[in-house]
Amino acid sequence: MGYNNILYELKDGIGLVTINRPDKMNALNDETINELNDVTGRIKLDERVWVVIITGAGEKAFVAGADIRELSQLNAQTAEAKMLKGQELNNRIENLGKPVIAAINGFALGGGCELAMACHIRLAADTAKLGQPEINLGIIPGYGGTQRLSRLVSRGKALELLLSGDNITAQEAYRIGLVDSIHPREQLMKAAFNLAAKLLRKSPLATKAIIEAVNDGLKKPFSEALKLEANIFSILIETEDAREGLKAFLEKRQPNFQGK
Ligand code: COA
Repeated sequence: MGYNNILYELKDGIGLVTINRPDKMNALNDETINELNDVTGRIKLDERVWVVIITGAGEKAFVAGADIRELSQLNAQTAEAKMLKGQELNNRIENLGKPVIAAINGFALGGGCELAMACHIRLAADTAKLGQPEINLGIIPGYGGTQRLSRLVSRGKALELLLSGDNITAQEAYRIGLVDSIHPREQLMKAAFNLAAKLLRKSPLATKAIIEAVNDGLKKPFSEALKLEANIFSILIETEDAREGLKAFLEKRQPNFQGK
């Protein structure tokens, strides 16, 4: 696909996206955002991809934020367009309809933390550092950080991180629920692929339905969200996958889901 700043490979149903600007700590410049928008658009439509892993190239960084050199050139008009574009990317990831695993191999700062938060499950290397340091630059997160962080961890912790700009360790991020598991650095990708392989064996339709129920349900009042869940359940029950899953249990065998 000829990208300059990302690598993409698809193997056995798992799409691996690697942000590849290691000399710039994988900072997200405009071209990288465009390429990520392009690849996630393709992944969404590609029925061969069932699970996605996003990681960063090199030893040090997942993504150390939006490209600060580009940020320094913005005015009000260009800034808004740029933030909306970054938000579009993160929204697309969140609503990809396939599980997206962030393999946080190092610094996940600013836009990198925001990108990781848009993913569905976050695995971190024990050496990773996370944070929203924008306040130290006199700005605020613009790719969804103020909103996703305050929904993911407590409001107090979110405000502490946003207002202090401090980077926290993977261990602290795990303790507050910002990452979901921690792994020795050298075992991170193996853990991500093992998790992806586990998710691959589930029904892709049920997987998509769960992501939709959680994402859309969280935007609604609780009673409305429960109605949404029942509605999604009722649609799913008539799929071949649901029939197969229920039948396989009763026949004491493993299900063979086809995504139909
Ligand atoms: N945007 C643009 N370039 C960045 C960058 C970013 N967000 N983060 C790192 N880089 C560049 C550095 O400018 C440097 O480039 P150079 O070699 O041309 O000078 C290169 O990546 C290596 O970074 P460096 O700071 O020398 O590495 P380090 O190991 O000393 O520190 C970090 C690593 C991540 C702690 C540090 O780079 C940093 O604080 N980055 C900015 C984080 C941030 O504020 N992100 C939010 C942006 S909104």
